[in-house]
Amino acid sequence: TSTPRLFSGMQPSADSLHIGNYVGALVQWRDMQRTHDAVFCVVDLHAITVPQDPAVLREQIRRTAAQYIAAGIDPSASTLFVQSHVPAHAQLAWVLNTITGFGEASRMTQFKDKASRQGTDAASLGLFAYPVLMAADILLYQTDHVPVGDDQKQHVELTRDLATRFNSRFGQTFVVPEPVILTEGARIYDLQNPSAKMSKSAVSDSGIVWLLDEPAKTAKKVKSAVTDTGREVRFDRGDKPGVSNLLTILSSFGGDSVPVLEERYAGRGYGDLKKDVAEAVVATFGPIRERALELLADPAELDRILSVNAARANEIAEATLADVYDRIGL
Ligand code: ADP
Ligand code: NA
Repeated sequence: TSTPRLFSGMQPSADSLHIGNYVGALVQWRDMQRTHDAVFCVVDLHAITVPQDPAVLREQIRRTAAQYIAAGIDPSASTLFVQSHVPAHAQLAWVLNTITGFGEASRMTQFKDKASRQGTDAASLGLFAYPVLMAADILLYQTDHVPVGDDQKQHVELTRDLATRFNSRFGQTFVVPEPVILTEGARIYDLQNPSAKMSKSAVSDSGIVWLLDEPAKTAKKVKSAVTDTGREVRFDRGDKPGVSNLLTILSSFGGDSVPVLEERYAGRGYGDLKKDVAEAVVATFGPIRERALELLADPAELDRILSVNAARANEIAEATLADVYDRIGL
């Protein structure tokens, strides 16, 4: 009878979100607000599992929150807050650490990837325990649905295992959440290197279109996108990764399906396609960027929104944590 609860979050790990984050997460979050009691989090405690610059992080947290709102997350209908404003995340994570097997945590493939990039000895315990903190994020809100990219699916599986284990040892406490895998068709690739996913952590940002880029810069990046040999505008991830990526972007921003677009560009060149992609992205990102900059120009108002939302989040989270402590004898 009640509206299902949704929880999702993103790390504040760059000054701006990019087309991939927008298409692959924000647009879908925005739509799911209609069918869910939605909780959206800026997961800053996750961001410190790799080295941070404090001043930069502080700014990135605010910018991420402003971009959620500017893109259509409604902070009066949904709960939009900063993770570190709700102490129960760290508190529940500790409890869940005590029921997580060392071997179980060692099997998380994202840790292996991230740790091997840093050198396993340099990786922190925090990075190792990242999936357990993510489980705490989700379970605190008695979440039914967790929209995630498929790279996070293993973490949601762990979350389900921990919820089930806790419930069977200590009595029914947590809702066991279901993953909602965000549409794979919406995966966006780097404009300069279309075999790699567009990512905040790319070495160079020349192939990344940031939500907060100036419109002229966005247009320039799109027009300099690498394309492929031949002249035909056709979707083919293997032979035409650059053109396929542009078609995916245009389809996501303009609403027409890829086959409809292929027909529209029959007999026309890559230049026309790029021009239209640039226009479509600028038309959507322009107003979102303006709104985000407005929010950032009024820090007191942004703080007010985040503090009202943190209070709402705290109320739910503290109730869950109190139940957990009680059940385990604390
Ligand atoms: P990044 O890889 O840039 O650091 P995150 O891992 O923080 O991005 O991802 C945040 C959200 O954005 C996730 O839900 C993820 O699925 C989505 N996302 C990130 N990059 C892309 C992309 N290139 N295409 C589609 N969705 C993406
Ligand atoms: Na990432």
